[in-house]
Amino acid sequence: MFPHYVLSVLSAWAALVSAETVIIPGAPWTDTSGDIIQAHGAGILKVGSTYYWFGEDKSANSALFSAVSCYSSSDLVNWSRQNNALTPVSGTMISNSNIIERPKVMFNQKNQEYVMWFHSDTSNYGAAMVGMATAKTPCGPYTYQGSWKPLGADSRDMGLFVDTDESAYLLYASDNNQNFKIARMDSNYYNVTAIVSQLNGSTLEAPGIVKRDNVYYLIASHTSGWDPNPNKIFQSSSLSGPWSAQADIAPASTRTYFSQNAFDLPLGSNAIYMGDRWRPSLLGSSRYIWYPLDFSSGSPRIAHADVWSVDVSAGTYTVASGTTYEAEAGTISGSATILSGSSFSGGQAVGYLGNGGSVTINNVQGNGQAQWIALYYANGDSTWRNTTVRPSTIVDQPNTGGGNVIISVPVKLTLNNGANSLTFSAGQSSYAADLDKIIVYQQG
Ligand SMILES: *[C@@H]1O[C@H](CO)[C@@H](O)[C@H](O)[C@H]1NC(C)=O
Ligand SMILES: *[C@@H]1O[C@H](CO)[C@@H](O)[C@H](O)[C@H]1NC(C)=O
Ligand SMILES: *[C@@H]1O[C@H](CO)[C@@H](O)[C@H](O)[C@H]1NC(C)=O
Ligand SMILES: *[C@@H]1O[C@H](CO)[C@@H](O)[C@H](O)[C@H]1NC(C)=O
Repeated sequence: MFPHYVLSVLSAWAALVSAETVIIPGAPWTDTSGDIIQAHGAGILKVGSTYYWFGEDKSANSALFSAVSCYSSSDLVNWSRQNNALTPVSGTMISNSNIIERPKVMFNQKNQEYVMWFHSDTSNYGAAMVGMATAKTPCGPYTYQGSWKPLGADSRDMGLFVDTDESAYLLYASDNNQNFKIARMDSNYYNVTAIVSQLNGSTLEAPGIVKRDNVYYLIASHTSGWDPNPNKIFQSSSLSGPWSAQADIAPASTRTYFSQNAFDLPLGSNAIYMGDRWRPSLLGSSRYIWYPLDFSSGSPRIAHADVWSVDVSAGTYTVASGTTYEAEAGTISGSATILSGSSFSGGQAVGYLGNGGSVTINNVQGNGQAQWIALYYANGDSTWRNTTVRPSTIVDQPNTGGGNVIISVPVKLTLNNGANSLTFSAGQSSYAADLDKIIVYQQG
């Protein structure tokens, strides 16, 4: 038996650790220095038991190249920023007036070398090239080797895949984004040598591949600029196809919960979908949308999760459950109105929040600590809205693609231990999105 004080220290420690091991899609993610993680268009490489996350640093809120960042982690949650892996080289295709997107890194066993590939472009996306750089350590810094059109044709959004036999492949949107191609690389991973698969007229981009039980799963979005669309999955027993018809990985109306695929990481018998929620007007505030990609039904689907955790050594994930409070059960005031619709939980939501309209949800049970709360809402406008929770916390509400389409966004609040009243309104002279329900989680 532990004495009581040891038990309370242990449970306080457990609370502290669990607080830092949850994945919250759409929240601002910070690194071990407390800075917002800047690694958009992600690529992940595992070296021993360490994961490296490469991505676009968009902290200047510009599409132009500033750096390929490199972060390391042993658990996919606690990320430490390392030196930049790639920085601008003036007078080349990777100067700070060019575009570098979707950096991905492979380790070449033969040469014991790290090889980075990326979408390399001019500021108007007119060059449509791939770029390549090499290093002897995971974060480099990498030495730029050049940019070119693979096999003489366009390459814009791209991904990489290294097969179990160490052969490597470039996955890319080609021919003005009309045809999607998979091309095999040479044994150095320095260039592509031949196309193995071509999906003509497929208009796919943002690709990734995971292999499971000798089946290849290709995950990709279609083309809609920075706006999200329903990302798709294709399967084949060979990289040269034939590929199955496309299938949705999430309810199509949610447009992949407002995200676009960037990378797909195997996890035990499942995988992790790693996407971006692009915010073109404030690129550095684009958020990471990572979800379990569940293969248990045979047709891989995103397991929607507001709060979840991953055990990388066991290869498993756990989706947290919380307590639901319906918005329509709250107290409404001003212009706020109960809306009916079959897509709303309980058939109702509260609309016209803002301009003096509000809803107060009462008796929300808190644990006295910071807690994650997911706001389920519909925003049928073409622009982002936001809602004020209690007096002053502002939560962004990206457009959901329709007034009857509901997605969730997270907010961390410190609630009182016991009953709380939460008021939702709009601080500005405008309206917040329609609020369907909230789910309160114990984790914070
Ligand atoms: C996070 O990682 C840093 C170093 O990478 C380490 O010092 C720290 O203990 C880790 N925190 C947790 C909660 O694992
Ligand atoms: C790769 O091959 C292309 C021809 O398809 C060539 O133009 C380019 O220079 C090559 N790149 C490297 C790094 O060898
Ligand atoms: C795709 O188009 C190319 C010509 O651009 C053609 O050679 C190839 O056979 C086509 N592939 C399929 C699968 O239709
Ligand atoms: C909230 O949304 C309104 C438009 O609905 C916008 O004018 C305002 O800038 C937004 N506020 C924040 C803090 O994003």
